[in-house]
Amino acid sequence: MILYFSATGNTKYIANKLAKDLDDETINLLKKLKENDYSKIHSDKPFIVCVPIYTCETPKFVNKFLRNVELEGNKEIYFIFSSGGYAGIANNICKRIARKKKMKYMGRKELTMPRNYVASNMYPMLPKEEILRRLNEATKQIHETSKQISNHEVLKGRHIWLFESIITIPFVPVWTKIKNKTKKFYTKDSCIGCSKCVNICPINNIILENGKPKWITNCAHCMACISNCPKNAIEYRGITETKEKYTISKYIDEIDEK
Ligand SMILES: Cc1cc2nc3c(=O)[nH]c(=O)nc-3n(C[C@H](O)[C@H](O)[C@H](O)COP(=O)(O)O)c2cc1C
Repeated sequence: MILYFSATGNTKYIANKLAKDLDDETINLLKKLKENDYSKIHSDKPFIVCVPIYTCETPKFVNKFLRNVELEGNKEIYFIFSSGGYAGIANNICKRIARKKKMKYMGRKELTMPRNYVASNMYPMLPKEEILRRLNEATKQIHETSKQISNHEVLKGRHIWLFESIITIPFVPVWTKIKNKTKKFYTKDSCIGCSKCVNICPINNIILENGKPKWITNCAHCMACISNCPKNAIEYRGITETKEKYTISKYIDEIDEK
């Protein structure tokens, strides 16, 4: 069983490719995350969790879900990290989650995907050639990973140094508190109040007020709302107005393998 969360499509792409290779099923966790639905999920095959990386970790709301959900049947769990190139200490976090669930940690694969973090000037959007290069390379690596999983291999990754944990653990909460502001989100006149942003926010951080979205608090900055708006009506003040927003759907037809 392949469980995934994806804000802008990269991780969904990975999950679907794995499912096809392994003749397995996928569950999009969005609804379960929104509803805090921790009900039992059964799988006879190993569980494979595909997640994006946010600030050197797996998203906190995904970690919370994984800690609480009952995974029944097969006791092995793989993780696939979809990042812009640095998965930080995600491996340690997921290993701990597996241990707490009394499951066998079967390792992780880190896939370098196009960056999607449009609400920050620190990570400029990549040129199209680089986006397609990453997607084509990742596609090859997904197939290799599928083979490893079907051969029941443990997935190995780079060593995580102690200093990475020492820096990341105190840094992330401070950084996200400073950076993940909601007050900079706003909608342009083209917003039609369709509620798509409300429906795709994994942590229910957006409500409709007078027919327009309003961001409350505790935003994960996942970029689901801003990047998937059908009218391109959402902006992050002073940063996104002049930028192309990323979703994989803009590039999917040009990936070598259809
Ligand atoms: C808030 C936020 C933080 C991110 N932090 C990292 C990071 O620490 N390292 C990294 O390599 N990529 C980082 N990224 C990039 C995403 O992990 C990457 O683009 C991922 O493939 C997006 O997956 P999705 O399209 O399924 O949502 C970050 C993205 C966001 C939105």
